[in-house]
Amino acid sequence: MSDPLFSVRDVVAGYGRAAPVLRGLSVDVAAGSIVCLVGPNGAGKSTVLKVASGLLPPRSGSLVLSGEDVTRLGPQRLLARGVAHVLQGHSVFPEMTVEENVRLGAYTVRDSSLVASRCARVREIFPVVGERWRSPAGLLSGGQQKQVEFARALMLEPAVILLDEPSMGLDPKTTAVVFEQIGRMRSLGLAVLLVEQNARRALELADVGCVLDLGRVHISGPARSLLADPKLAALYLGGTPHPS
Ligand SMILES: Nc1ncnc2c1ncn2[C@@H]1O[C@H](COP(=O)(O)OP(=O)(O)OP(=O)(O)O)[C@@H](O)[C@H]1O
Ligand SMILES: [Mg+2]
Repeated sequence: MSDPLFSVRDVVAGYGRAAPVLRGLSVDVAAGSIVCLVGPNGAGKSTVLKVASGLLPPRSGSLVLSGEDVTRLGPQRLLARGVAHVLQGHSVFPEMTVEENVRLGAYTVRDSSLVASRCARVREIFPVVGERWRSPAGLLSGGQQKQVEFARALMLEPAVILLDEPSMGLDPKTTAVVFEQIGRMRSLGLAVLLVEQNARRALELADVGCVLDLGRVHISGPARSLLADPKLAALYLGGTPHPS
């Protein structure tokens, strides 16, 4: 892999006084690539993303962005430095319009012409967002709302995007659209760290796969070789696929 743009290194993290959820976890993401984290419910996938976006300060370990230690910056400054986080579940404001939701992503940008050009850009990347620009976001389908969340996250033109279960609750056809958009983010040069329940499909899209177990990356490698490993498939991917 080329030099990582963003690294989570040897992170130990957890909640309150409880035993740590992450116990020395490391993951690297290069620009223009997708790294997919898979693992069972409760393995700590969302916790990795919370540490990576600064929402949860690690007990030890570090975050490195473009070679610089950014461990203690906190979520706002990490976002300003280009690390965006799209949370698990739905986070649009249903009574606000699509436009208002998207503009929230750039509330720190004062230059209105810059905001306008970024709105035009995300409307071009996510056509459905442009089509429903003036609708209340709550009237959109789950998959459309997810694209509004992506558009909002791209308003600051991040270098790194953390996506937590973007296909959750979506039917297979809509999931395919959302995954296509994630591929588009990669082609725009973003470093994508993707967490997915839909492990097989996510690994088909990703460049690198990491299996989380007991608070660490248990296995990692090219996503294709993870998919081809029958033992791994049986343990984490719901069995081997039928030969096509
Ligand atoms: N805010 C919190 N306070 C206390 N414990 C938490 C909190 N969030 C998560 N946990 C605990 O941390 C562990 C890992 O949770 P996490 O949400 O990271 O798992 P996950 O792999 O994302 O699971 P899922 O696939 O269900 O989304 C779980 O045992 C969970 O109960
Ligand atoms: Mg989760």
